Amino acid sequence: MKFQERVFSGMQPTGSLHLGNYLGAMLKWIDLQKTHECIYCVVDLHAITVWQDPAELRQAIRQVTAAYMAAGLDPKKSILFNQSQVSAHAELAWVFNCVARLGWLNRMTQFKEKAGKDRENASVGLYAYPNLMAADILAYRATHVPVGDDQKQHLELARDIAQKFNNDFAEPIREMGYEDGIFFPQPEPVITGPATRVMSLRDGTRKMSKSEPSDLSRINLTDDVDSIAKKIKKAKTDPEPLPGEVEGLEARPEAENLVGIYAALAGTSKPDVLSEFGGKQFSQFKPALAELCVEKLGPIADEARRLMNDPAEIDRVLANGSERARELATPILNEVKDVVGFIRG
Ligand code: AMP
Ligand code: TRP
Repeated sequence: MKFQERVFSGMQPTGSLHLGNYLGAMLKWIDLQKTHECIYCVVDLHAITVWQDPAELRQAIRQVTAAYMAAGLDPKKSILFNQSQVSAHAELAWVFNCVARLGWLNRMTQFKEKAGKDRENASVGLYAYPNLMAADILAYRATHVPVGDDQKQHLELARDIAQKFNNDFAEPIREMGYEDGIFFPQPEPVITGPATRVMSLRDGTRKMSKSEPSDLSRINLTDDVDSIAKKIKKAKTDPEPLPGEVEGLEARPEAENLVGIYAALAGTSKPDVLSEFGGKQFSQFKPALAELCVEKLGPIADEARRLMNDPAEIDRVLANGSERARELATPILNEVKDVVGFIRG
């Protein structure tokens, strides 16, 4: 079966969004709206794989929604909703729990990182997390998934699950009229641009992340002008001036990170940035980078704050998106039930 191109992605409503989310995911989501049918999901079911205070979770769901709308996500054009309102995600995830193998999940590096040393005490949900992510995507037969580099392994697992489902149920799938036996597509990761992996400002070998204790390590979308300037000024660098060519960034992770951030924010490439700043010191580059950050992020933070003044309106956006999402996912889930051999009334 030839599947029509459809984009799906999700973000967790935990902590505040940072520059890594913005450059690794948001910018691409917004861009893809121009060319594709897009479904964007606030993954609240994923969030509770680690403890969330209920009142804070509710707030975080609205905040993430507001941030995406402020950044340019148009809820009229694209579908924007929160996962728990569309039960197809959880239902399909259960089927996938029975398709995926323990051995596959045991290889997931994000689980190992998040569970840490006390693995026995991690929730079962944290372990099964990638199966739910596969269900998110495949409940819509999405073909393209824009994410940051850290999600690549989870995407590969989603592809494996799609393939195993197609193989395991080859016969009923053909009987249902899928002549080529393909029920689920193989979703493609969309991991492109100069900043697919934004690194910590304090350590160029670690990912910028909301779980990093030092707030100096990241730029939050809600940071004011002064903190952005301060964080960039304090960002770790090396003593050399910037090179004129990208090869000169090798083994200079902090320099490479800042150049990548600049390129992504400016909508250009690393070579373009280096042809402008090659030979210059960080003392010249950093103020330019700070200014660009403020210029791009400032208006988003302002607009997100404005939207948060009307939480009922955000809830309405999510309810409307959920209804549209349900319309797409329900017929696919019903077919899954038939394929698997369930009876439905
Ligand atoms: P999360 O906040 O973990 O739900 O991530 C939301 C999106 O942001 C996912 O597509 C991630 O891959 C992306 N992302 C998170 N951190 C980074 C980072 N440091 N660099 C690039 N992309 C990131
Ligand atoms: N696991 C993703 C993250 O942490 C979020 C996510 C959940 C997602 N479901 C998804 C991303 C489906 C893309 C597609 O960033």
